[in-house]
Amino acid sequence: MPFEYIDRQLCVTHKGGVIPLKDVVTRSPDPIYVYDLDGVMDRLEKFKGSLSVPHSVHFALKANNNRLILSAMAQAGFGVDVVSGGELQLAIDCGFSPERIVFSGVGKTVSEIEKAIQLRIKQINVESPQELKRIIALAKKIGRSARVAFRMNPDVHAETHPYITTGFRENKFGMDRTFLPELESQVREAEGAVTLVGLTVHIGSQLKQLEPMIEAIEKTKEIHNELQSRGWDLKTFDVGGGLGIHYEDGNLAVDEKAIAQYGSAVSEATREMGVEILFEPGRVIVARFGVLIGEVQYIKETPYKNFAILNTGMHHIMRPCLYQAHHRLLPLTQKTVAPQLYDIVGPICESSDVLGKDRALPILEQGDFIAVADAGAYGAVMANAYNSHSLPKEFVVYNGVCQATPSKVPVSF
Ligand code: LLP
Repeated sequence: MPFEYIDRQLCVTHKGGVIPLKDVVTRSPDPIYVYDLDGVMDRLEKFKGSLSVPHSVHFALKANNNRLILSAMAQAGFGVDVVSGGELQLAIDCGFSPERIVFSGVGKTVSEIEKAIQLRIKQINVESPQELKRIIALAKKIGRSARVAFRMNPDVHAETHPYITTGFRENKFGMDRTFLPELESQVREAEGAVTLVGLTVHIGSQLKQLEPMIEAIEKTKEIHNELQSRGWDLKTFDVGGGLGIHYEDGNLAVDEKAIAQYGSAVSEATREMGVEILFEPGRVIVARFGVLIGEVQYIKETPYKNFAILNTGMHHIMRPCLYQAHHRLLPLTQKTVAPQLYDIVGPICESSDVLGKDRALPILEQGDFIAVADAGAYGAVMANAYNSHSLPKEFVVYNGVCQATPSKVPVSF
């Protein structure tokens, strides 16, 4: 386990030993994220190991943009999926070579596309005919051909929170197959300014059922085969990310089983295609290996509720207020006293600033620390400075060393 209780103290356990989190919190007066990077790298290897087709794994950087984590992934030879100029620059700064970078996202600007073309990245995942037109014009202007993949919208229900489904026909993502004639003729008429390398599909995030993912792959595969039969020489097939975890419990063996099932199902579904299969996992790689730690500022007992008010909240982890997401809440020090029900809330002036409602926790006191579990994905990346609070600091444990990471300043692009 990345984080476990040893002698009643919540600790990061790593290859070199054990670091109690109470020793890390003393290094910052503010709320902190702590990551287990050994765990992340092990998870990436497991993900890769579950695949039995020619492939490349491109970590979805949007899930976690910590520089130490990204640098370790780059060094280990993994690729990355970016969705903005800032992410593209960050990936380059962290050592990803351009041929390991794919660029997704519905709203790429002129300067973002120019940068991607100049860098000669592996592929730009195109989301609309107008975007393709822009890419072609810019490639001609720059005098350098761009590799593009068409993102399809397979019209599949992803069975997840409506805010994170992306493959249903009413979502803004991807393209319906009726767009194909226009897209194909644009590429044909581009006089080599773009090369169509493949298709891509991503139907949503936090998916716990394999069936919709496989259905989306099958539907997109049909289009791939059609394009091949019309003479397009496709080289890649990008199946996106989306594999979820069970936030209610922290059992890594359950994740590993899900990864193995996903890897073998996608490998089976794509084996006969004979092209490189691209994967863009985010959450399943990093979620388990991060915690956000806040300190109890006040206990407020009303006739109706017991509140524990922390110095961290919806500004540091938006998932509970945005998606009603459940994150386990773990006191840094285990106590033997009987549990009591608490609403664990933050300092923000909004009633949505709740990290957990009616949670049974041992009697809490001012000065106790609480860890928000499974916060490694879509945690610190989505943090903001609302109410002018500072952003959380981040610490990374890797090879037995706990290192503070540079504070998050927007990447200049
Ligand atoms: N590829 C594309 C094109 C994506 O849009 C995403 C996620 C991924 C890959 C990675 O998906 P994953 O493997 O992490 O599910 N903030 C939300 C999740 C938003 C996901 C956005 N796209 C949350 O906290 O649940």
